[in-house]
Amino acid sequence: MTKAPLHDIMLCINDIKEAAGTKLPISATDFYNSGSTNQVTVTENTTAYRKYRLRPRVLVDVSQADPSTTVFGQKIRFPLGVSPAGLQGMAHPDGELATSRACAKHGVAMGVSTFANYTVEEIRAAGLDIGPIPHCMQIYTMQDRTKQESILKRAEAAGCVALFLTADSPILGFRYNEHRNDFRSPEGLAFPMMDRTSEMIRSERHEDGFTAFNSSSHSWAREIPWLRSITKMQIWIKGVLTAEDVELAVQYGCDGVLVSNHGGRQLDETPATIDALPECVKAANGKIPVHIDGGIRSGTDIFKALALGAECCWIGRPMIWGLAYGGEAGANKVLDILYNEFMRCMQLTGCRSVADISHASLGILFSYVMSPMVPNLIGTRLELRTITRNTKSRVILSMQELATDQFILVFFQEPKRHFVAIMQIISSALTFFATALLFGQAVAHPSDPCNGRTIWADTTDCHAFYQCGAVGEPVHKWCAPGTGFNPHTNACERQEYVCK
Ligand SMILES: Cc1cc2nc3c(=O)[nH]c(=O)nc-3n(C[C@H](O)[C@H](O)[C@H](O)COP(=O)(O)O)c2cc1C
Repeated sequence: MTKAPLHDIMLCINDIKEAAGTKLPISATDFYNSGSTNQVTVTENTTAYRKYRLRPRVLVDVSQADPSTTVFGQKIRFPLGVSPAGLQGMAHPDGELATSRACAKHGVAMGVSTFANYTVEEIRAAGLDIGPIPHCMQIYTMQDRTKQESILKRAEAAGCVALFLTADSPILGFRYNEHRNDFRSPEGLAFPMMDRTSEMIRSERHEDGFTAFNSSSHSWAREIPWLRSITKMQIWIKGVLTAEDVELAVQYGCDGVLVSNHGGRQLDETPATIDALPECVKAANGKIPVHIDGGIRSGTDIFKALALGAECCWIGRPMIWGLAYGGEAGANKVLDILYNEFMRCMQLTGCRSVADISHASLGILFSYVMSPMVPNLIGTRLELRTITRNTKSRVILSMQELATDQFILVFFQEPKRHFVAIMQIISSALTFFATALLFGQAVAHPSDPCNGRTIWADTTDCHAFYQCGAVGEPVHKWCAPGTGFNPHTNACERQEYVCK
């Protein structure tokens, strides 16, 4: 049964997501949108962006603002790429071909999944018909090294600039939807790079198909020198979340890392990628570029990731929603929206080029120590309910400062539900305060410059985001990263704090 679209004007990625949901069967929507197990990471990937605020500079001439940048040695129109995501043919028959054309039209990079429904040669040619863009071939560590090598050789011959070694998937993350829906890809869709016909794929569950070819015995020492020996493409590691692994990537001579948690589809309860980014950038120390994907849903998100040190951002699901919504036109719409939002954000913050985007462009909201509670609330499945005329009791819980799809409105029709909701809210509030207490103490430095008050820090980069204030207090002030709020002077001051 198809639902009628709520509205026809597509103004943001969430509009396109909503429209895509009306076009696809539920099992396909679930497959694309879900994360693994409890959906913690997939949710936080997006909500984590909300704790940052922009620090605009005014009276800057932005009439000639230029959002272009250089990645893989090639100029792109703005700092975006489309992440490698398999099975795009299920969203629209043109699948990866449409994605490639849209990327070329908008001058952004594209990752090609090993599980694409078209060959790398076809995908690359589709883009090249419109214009030159960097394509990157995604690869897993495969049991069959000969096949892995042949995929990479084909990608290189087709003109891909880099390979993305997906490092976060020694085994597949556990995705409930695939089991509950007994998910199978639709008839007629093959994985040509893997020599898998539609019949072969449909005869097995996604997880079994993955396990049959993938190798869980991968290692830095085994993969990187071998990859170097068989290809001249740049070697990027996709799926890095820690400083330690970035250091290894540098040590092993990799060309770059993509901070990614596979869009929350692999290990659940990892940090949101935007929270892992600062420590990764710090560890890279300018030696290799750091890119990021996961949860990016607006041009402002791209801006924030750049301010935290990413060279370029990548999107997975938004492009799939675009394809489902309107094929190539839908894919173009997604890139249009993100370009316009990014450009507008640059101009309104007084940035004339991406080089102007820096740590000083961002602040962090003190009140976002409450972020642990957000997924907690969402996890309780307080859903948007339709208001009916005979609604007797109505509770509206509005969580300000969350993205539109996390902006929770709850309408209750029955007192019983009302009661349950209040209990949920109370329990979430308690969780918040408990977490806040623990969190605050965990990062308090012995020589606390806040004089006994709590120091709040970003979970990953303690140097960057100190905030001072008592538990539960509203925002005092937000400071530029690298500075801390000193309650004695009531000012943001540059301080060197040590976390451990
Ligand atoms: C449907 C789907 C299929 C994906 N397939 C792959 C894949 O084949 N290889 C891979 O490395 N990552 C894959 N990913 C992960 C994406 O490359 C990317 O990391 C993730 O989608 C980014 O998060 P976002 O969707 O929130 O933007 C897939 C993601 C989705 C949603």
